[in-house]
Amino acid sequence: MTQKLYIQTNGCQMNEYDSDKMRDILLDSHAMEITLAPENADVLLLNTCSIREKAQEKVFSAIGRWRKLKQKNPKIIIGVGGCVASQEGAAIQKRAPYVDIVFGPQTLHRLPALLDQARTTHKKVVDISFPEIEKFDALPEPRAEGVKAFVSVMEGCSKYCTYCVVPYTRGEEISRPLNDVVDEIIALAKQGVREINLLGQNVNAYCGEMEDGALASFALLLHCVASIGGIDRLRFTTSHPLEFTDDLIEAFAEIPELVNHLHLPVQSGSNDVLARMKRDYSREDYLVKLEKLKVIRPNISLSSDFIVGFPDESDEEFEETMSLIEAVEFDFSYSFIYSPRPGTPAAEFNDNISMEIKKQRLSRLKMRLNEMTQNFSNAMIGSTQTILVEGESKKNALQMTGRTENNRVVNFTGHPRLKGQFVDILITEALPNSLRGRMVETSLNTIK
Ligand code: SAH
Ligand code: SF4
Ligand code: F3S
Repeated sequence: MTQKLYIQTNGCQMNEYDSDKMRDILLDSHAMEITLAPENADVLLLNTCSIREKAQEKVFSAIGRWRKLKQKNPKIIIGVGGCVASQEGAAIQKRAPYVDIVFGPQTLHRLPALLDQARTTHKKVVDISFPEIEKFDALPEPRAEGVKAFVSVMEGCSKYCTYCVVPYTRGEEISRPLNDVVDEIIALAKQGVREINLLGQNVNAYCGEMEDGALASFALLLHCVASIGGIDRLRFTTSHPLEFTDDLIEAFAEIPELVNHLHLPVQSGSNDVLARMKRDYSREDYLVKLEKLKVIRPNISLSSDFIVGFPDESDEEFEETMSLIEAVEFDFSYSFIYSPRPGTPAAEFNDNISMEIKKQRLSRLKMRLNEMTQNFSNAMIGSTQTILVEGESKKNALQMTGRTENNRVVNFTGHPRLKGQFVDILITEALPNSLRGRMVETSLNTIK
């Protein structure tokens, strides 16, 4: 009988990409099939995130539920992968002895062997090493699902911001060779993919080897990907302001496939906080880069991540974040209360700011960011937006759904054959989580 696989994914898009690869690998090696019901699974995998304490807490509550399934059927295999696995290793099995396999973000391609090992030896298996780029060499042909796809182009991070676990969980920055990335995207394009989101924790630090041994910059990678037939929309996440170089800014002038949206996390508007975070740029550096970009793309939608309540963040320092968001007018941004992570330098910093104050600041920041997002949506009413049609709307089968360049969901009346096409939509209404619109008569002439 076909073995069933259940995967739960927490964390960032890189984890989502990795989970898809786990599915593909086990489908190839053990002819497994995905199930959406954990109680039907033979193998249960949890792909974890440790970026903040709350994310990490999710691990033991999820596998605690799976434990009951294993009590009923001891043959079930439970595996924990991702960033918590990478940091905690065998400690996970000390706390939860019913976990059979612990594997890291860089060893997921070894899952078939780890699974066989767990089944034959009945012993706990741990492999959280960083075997460099081996993972990508061992991946099966990519399988497209729909008209958009994520593609990881580099792993890890060498920035070591003082608050962040990523360099410890994913290792130092390492880029895939240019041709590997291009081949993967050509294979996706052949399956109908039209939009690619290039992924990396620090994606613009990409520096991949080319056939002649020279190294390709991220801007060059963008040019190569944009020239692939069928790929007409290009995004990337997440870029670091320090490496947001002039040639990358120039790419926005040269590559029409690059969307009119950029996620460039600033974290704080205060130079002192930025220094304590070890971000290696100032508020002014950040603003200058955005100004340069706006010369090329005046209407670009900009989003960011913010950390509120970094150790000893004063009222004045927080106000500098508030004034920065007024200066930039961000669209659709994320903000978090600082969460001390064991093993990071900031976890040792003095912090005299109470949680109550941090929460008040977060809610003020969030409220203002939400208003700005809503203003952006409202300003889109009456404009014509090109959307990539993803399929039928879940709520109403007569409606089609897709996304604008700045990632707004748009629902409109249209034919199912529009799936996978770019159409022009006149936006007529802005709801809190989506937009409504109607097709512009000449819409189909935008199909590339
Ligand atoms: N590499 C990206 C972001 C990676 S993590 C960058 O440097 O911008 C995603 C977001 O989580 C970060 O942008 C940051 O805002 C948040 N984050 C990371 N560590 C955190 C911590 N210890 N506490 C709270 N938020 C954190
Ligand atoms: Fe973490 Fe991003 Fe800093 Fe890297 S650049 S350490 S991923 S916050
Ligand atoms: Fe979380 Fe790891 Fe991604 S810590 S945000 S899953 S890189």
